[in-house]
Amino acid sequence: MEHGRLNVPQGFLFSGLCAGIKASRADLALVLATVPCAAAGVFTPNRARAACVQDAAARLPCDGLRAILTNSGNANALTGQRGEQAVREVVRAVAEVLGVAEEAVVTASTGIIGVPLPVHKIIAALPLLRERAEPDPGAAAEAILTTDTRRKIATRSLTVGGQLVRVLGFAKGGGMIHPHLATLLAYVLTDANVAPDLLQRMLAAAARRSFNRLSIDGDMSTNDALFAMASGLAGNERLSGPELSGDAAALAQAIEEVCVDLARAVAADGEGATRRIEVCVSGDLSDDDADALAKAVVRSPLCKAALFGGDPNWGRILAAVGARAASRGLELPLSRLRCAIQGVCVFADGEPCGVPAEELRGLLAGREVLIEIAVGEGPGRGQAWGCDLSYDYVKINAEYLAQTSASADGTITRDGRLESYGPTFKHRLLVEALSYIRRFAGQIAVLKYGGAAMLDEGLKRSFAEDVLRLRDVGLKPVVVHGGGPEINRMLQALGRNRSVFIDGVRVTDKEDMAVVEMVLDGRINSELVALLNQGDHHAIGISGKDGRLLEAVRIRGPRGEDLGEVGEVQNVRTELLTMFLDKGYVPVIAPTAISEDGSVLNVNADDAAAAIAGALRARKLIYLCDVPGLLHNGELVSELSEAGLREALAWPDVAGGMIAKLRSVQRAIQQGVASVHLIDGRVRHALIAELFTDAGVGTVVRAGLGTVSSS
Ligand code: ARG
Repeated sequence: MEHGRLNVPQGFLFSGLCAGIKASRADLALVLATVPCAAAGVFTPNRARAACVQDAAARLPCDGLRAILTNSGNANALTGQRGEQAVREVVRAVAEVLGVAEEAVVTASTGIIGVPLPVHKIIAALPLLRERAEPDPGAAAEAILTTDTRRKIATRSLTVGGQLVRVLGFAKGGGMIHPHLATLLAYVLTDANVAPDLLQRMLAAAARRSFNRLSIDGDMSTNDALFAMASGLAGNERLSGPELSGDAAALAQAIEEVCVDLARAVAADGEGATRRIEVCVSGDLSDDDADALAKAVVRSPLCKAALFGGDPNWGRILAAVGARAASRGLELPLSRLRCAIQGVCVFADGEPCGVPAEELRGLLAGREVLIEIAVGEGPGRGQAWGCDLSYDYVKINAEYLAQTSASADGTITRDGRLESYGPTFKHRLLVEALSYIRRFAGQIAVLKYGGAAMLDEGLKRSFAEDVLRLRDVGLKPVVVHGGGPEINRMLQALGRNRSVFIDGVRVTDKEDMAVVEMVLDGRINSELVALLNQGDHHAIGISGKDGRLLEAVRIRGPRGEDLGEVGEVQNVRTELLTMFLDKGYVPVIAPTAISEDGSVLNVNADDAAAAIAGALRARKLIYLCDVPGLLHNGELVSELSEAGLREALAWPDVAGGMIAKLRSVQRAIQQGVASVHLIDGRVRHALIAELFTDAGVGTVVRAGLGTVSSS
């Protein structure tokens, strides 16, 4: 997937799948080393820590580690003797399936506390987990998530002893699993050759400057664990000894940077978080004291709540700093104290700077808040990351147990309805939404429907509802759908499965094309139209052939290969669409096209959607994807300019399918579409949340210089 081109260290394979601990999401992850590794770990000091943490902490650092097995959904903490027994059973089973010694396996867990771990489910899933192991960490990074919403992956590379060394990390963040306990799990893998004790020192130092500077809610988990494994396959001479200098210092630095990236990503994805907060403290104090003051701000519920509301209440920030200084017995000469929010000084030399609140409010609109505090000019430096405190946070954690149930077989299910938001939030949301409704009235929005959203009954239904809602508030939706896996299934069922693919494009002969049309027009299109017309009568199904809507030319493979009936849209005849749109209909378009000589050609649905949006001068083009949006270093990119989009095409973690999608986005923008959105089709009503809130939920690429376009 999007991590296909990541720089993965040699000697590691990953996999993730759903073992049924959680009702439907992936919940079991494996990190598998192809050779024995030096390993290290940093663990929560919580006295109530989980059995797996006790076990791993007792065995690391060590040499010869081969595997880390992690489950999410169940923390196996406070589960008594059974919990310890469960760890032993899982370790034994993993060792057996992988054909390694039991000493070479450690485990980690995250999830609900106090519920017995369904060991049988884990053991049953191990053979498939092993079979699926591959160099891409994506599935494993997904399977460790709980209430955090996106994968977090970071990489660095460097030279050690003349050899290229890679460092890759992935993590899960502050998802609240039981009130007051946030779990953080992180894995750092490298192909450097380094002794376990030295690796342990590097990891501990990195943790101090990354994860230990992080606070989602100030509560410590029973299950926090940070692991490191070094395969040595980079081939450098083994680093060892007590000194963190030279090459060892460079490797330590890379490990720290990976951990800092992950910690920042965890902060941004804290439970219910809408903004990441970064606090930097400097001046006449020790680094430890500076860290403590910075952390006091990201831990303060008053500061966090104010930042959720975008309220520039800087007095709370300095109050938190002053209180922490007192509890550490530090002097805090107010005449030397300075505080800046988003680079704007709000307090200096013992006096408020008198910045108008409205100006500050404007600075707090984004997803990141930077707070800088200085106590004189000294060299002390500290830092902390956290997130705001939202209604969602309270909602999720106030009713966690009420919303969570463990069935007799150990499956954890959650009721995710979060309807009781606070009144101010509701008002703000309504005001936001209504202003967008007004701005978008009468505008065309092309929706590219595909992926998971086409396969799940619930998602299909909520997509149909959302399309009709858009129409209800005066937008003019146009739906372009893809073929999903159904075309392949049908071709296979008809015994036409000896297909050849060239660069991801299926060579489509005339008979294959008849099957493609049958599935696209006859099945997918008509089903979607029927769904939209339940209780409404405005959806109308057409294909690219109708009224010669999509005119295409045949294309060839990159080396001139004959691809058969495959084309590229050259021209969109919009008469028919305009007619329907003017009369209030919602066109639902199957992406087949017609060529010069009247033959029917198969065209890429993303491209077709872009061409149609361009020809209609649509205000918006929205792609439903199977990812939250465009991801970079494991984080969602919320907004991009045209120039930013060009850069994104070269990011190492943007691969395959996403590159093709971004090229369609580029084309649409060039043809005059004002904004193109990538949203998560797996999340219900993401479409509504993206269009009718300021912050949106996916990625938006805007035409022009990246300034926010108004009406
Ligand atoms: N609702 C606004 C729009 O549709 C803003 C969307 C912002 N989206 C984002 N991913 N940052 O234009």
